[in-house]
Amino acid sequence: MSVETKISNKIFDNCLMNASGAKCMTFEDLSKLKNSESGTWITKSCTISSREGNPSPRYVDLKLGSINSMGLPNLGFQFYLDYVLDEHKLGNDHLFFSIAGLSLEENMEMLNKINSSDFQGWVELNLSCPNIQGKPQTGYDFERTEEVLDKIFSFYSKPLGVKLPPYFDIAHFEIVADILNQYPLQFVTCINSIGNALYIEDESVVIKPKNGFGGIGGAYIKPTALANVRMFYKLLRNDISIIGCGGVETGKDVFEHLLCGASMVQIGTQLMKEDISVFSRLLTELKTIMKAKNYKSLNDFKGKLKEL
Ligand code: DOR
Repeated sequence: MSVETKISNKIFDNCLMNASGAKCMTFEDLSKLKNSESGTWITKSCTISSREGNPSPRYVDLKLGSINSMGLPNLGFQFYLDYVLDEHKLGNDHLFFSIAGLSLEENMEMLNKINSSDFQGWVELNLSCPNIQGKPQTGYDFERTEEVLDKIFSFYSKPLGVKLPPYFDIAHFEIVADILNQYPLQFVTCINSIGNALYIEDESVVIKPKNGFGGIGGAYIKPTALANVRMFYKLLRNDISIIGCGGVETGKDVFEHLLCGASMVQIGTQLMKEDISVFSRLLTELKTIMKAKNYKSLNDFKGKLKEL
C-alpha cells in the first residue's frame, strides 16, 4: 500500500506535513519536523525582519481546537532562506517556505531574493493571517488579491502557491477561483484559521491581543476546511494541487481531506497538542482505513467524495 503523493512533478513519501505556524519557527523545531514521519515540512510564515509577535497569552488549546493571535513571531526572512538552502545542500528539495510580508512591497522583496537564490522548493504565500492589527486579510479583498498575484507573476518564475482564508459563500468561491485560475500557481492551501473569533472562560477572554479576538483551529473548523478543499478542488484548474488544512485529529480526518480532493494535508492544532509523534499515528490510522476499504494508493479515492 502506498501513501505517496505528488505536487506538480515531485513525489512525497506521504501526504502529511505541518501547517505553517505549528512548531516550525526555530532551527530546533524544524529539525524535529525533519526527523519526524511527515512527508515534508514548512517554515513559519516570515517577514523581512524578525518579529516578537503579539503579547502573551497568545495561543490557547481548547477542548475542540485552539485560538491564537500569535502576530507572526518569526526569526526573519534570511534565517529561513539560509535554512532551506542548507537543506538543499543536504539533498532535500521538497521543502515549503512560507512568507507573509506585511505589505506587497515586502512580499516582492522576499520573492525577488528567493527568485535569484538556489531555492528549489515551493513558496506558500500567506494571504490570510488574521492577527495583525490594522492589516486586513488579503484573501478577503478580491481586487487586492488579483493585484498582488499580477505583480508577483510579472517576475516570479519559481513554484508558488497561496494560503487562503476560509470562504463561506458560493459566490466568493467562484470569484476567488476565477482569479487564481489566471495564474501559474502550483497549489492552494485551504484553510488558515477562522479569523477573529472570541472564546470565553470565567467571564473573560483567554488571549491578550486584540481584546481576545483570535484565529480558531482544530475540530471546530473541519467542516469549513473540507468545504473549502472540495470547492477549490472542483473550481480550480486541475494542475493546481490542493493542500488541505483544518481540523485534522485522526486518520479519518486525513482521509476526508483527501476524499474532498486534497493532495497533501497539513496538521496545525493537533501538532501543537500532541507534538511530532502525531504524524506516525495519523499515517497508521490512515493506512488502517485504506486497508479496510482495499485502497492501494491515495489516487484510488482522492477527490472521489460521493454526492447524492
Ligand atoms: O492563525 C494564524 N496565526 N494564521 C496565520 O497566518 C499567522 C498566525 C500568526 O502568527 O498569528
